[in-house]
Amino acid sequence: MTKHVIQFFDTTLRDGEQTIGVNFTVDDKIEIAKRIADWGADVIEAGFPVASPADLAAVRRIGQEVTNANIVGLARCVKKDIDAVTEALGDAPNGQIHVFIATSPIHRDSKLHMTKDQVLDRINECVSYAKQAFENVEFSPEDATRTEWDFLARSVQVAIEAGATVINIPDTTGYTTPVEMANLFKYLQQNVADFDKVTFSAHCHNDLGMATANALAAIENGATRIEGTINGIGERAGNTALEQIVAIMNARQDHYSDYTSNVDMTKTYDLAQFISEKSGMGLPNNQPLTGSNVFAHESGIHQDGFLKNPSTYEILTPESVGRTRSTLPLGKLSGSHAVVNRLEQIGFRVKKEEVPVIFRHFQAIADQSRLVSNEQLRQMMNDISEMKVAN
Ligand code: KIV
Ligand code: ZN
Repeated sequence: MTKHVIQFFDTTLRDGEQTIGVNFTVDDKIEIAKRIADWGADVIEAGFPVASPADLAAVRRIGQEVTNANIVGLARCVKKDIDAVTEALGDAPNGQIHVFIATSPIHRDSKLHMTKDQVLDRINECVSYAKQAFENVEFSPEDATRTEWDFLARSVQVAIEAGATVINIPDTTGYTTPVEMANLFKYLQQNVADFDKVTFSAHCHNDLGMATANALAAIENGATRIEGTINGIGERAGNTALEQIVAIMNARQDHYSDYTSNVDMTKTYDLAQFISEKSGMGLPNNQPLTGSNVFAHESGIHQDGFLKNPSTYEILTPESVGRTRSTLPLGKLSGSHAVVNRLEQIGFRVKKEEVPVIFRHFQAIADQSRLVSNEQLRQMMNDISEMKVAN
């Protein structure tokens, strides 16, 4: 059976750079784009060329230098924005354009001051105009998830008739829920005549912590492209963390056996560290896949299970995301198995009958420390052997 290839559209350099305090240099942008392409993203949104001459120049360089992914520039449904993308990427080997206009009532009335018909006309005009310069045109109805569903379907159909090859459904404010996203995609499948002629994509924000779940709901209901960023950086609470979608498809092959991707998951950890360093946004200790705690086990029951079989408490191996090994940090909840295991790793041979005494000493130290270091363990073993000599 042929699998659906889920395309990964990375917008770390565009939506990710809209994170407060994040400002990549041009050289960083080139290096980031290269690494994201090597990780296996199919499409990279390199920036918003109309925003500034510097942004345009950076998008242009990425379009010329990064040839193993499609490179996209963002434009509002405005002629000068589309012209800026054409100037940046019109002659790039894999250049594409992404045009957007808001469709929801709140954006139409309060921001754009446009009627529904005016929005439809603008979609038709701008997609047709973009199509003159690019074969591949992605259209996004901004704030799609707060748009009336019948009007959303009409907007999408107009974009397809004007030449759009990709329709992206943004949950701009992170408002939707997984069930609602699933139902919205089902509705679009049934109510957009040309649904099957184009690629459908989902772009989710994380305001309510649902960006990953909402993206999965889209995949399960017809989306074959997911937009997001590495580490989930982005406006406000950020975007879907693309590495999480890859890992879910991998860890839950039982559920996602019909899907595959071009991503090499083993490059995830290095890429995440690199983006963290360049964005200045540290990875929380409990960040899924890449945080310092996520392949470490401190409590005694977990350490005992892990030592017997790592799969008792780990659903992915650290190696699968490019990390070296799991750790068993020693703290006050750790058990004797893990203590003995660590002592053996650092060169001590522990006899069975010595374990109760050693463990009592360990607990006394652990009660006073957040984590017990190898140095403290060596000192402890030294103290125990001196006590034996004195007795
Ligand atoms: O969140 C959003 O709606 C966007 C669009 C430009 C796709 O980033
Ligand atoms: Zn966005």
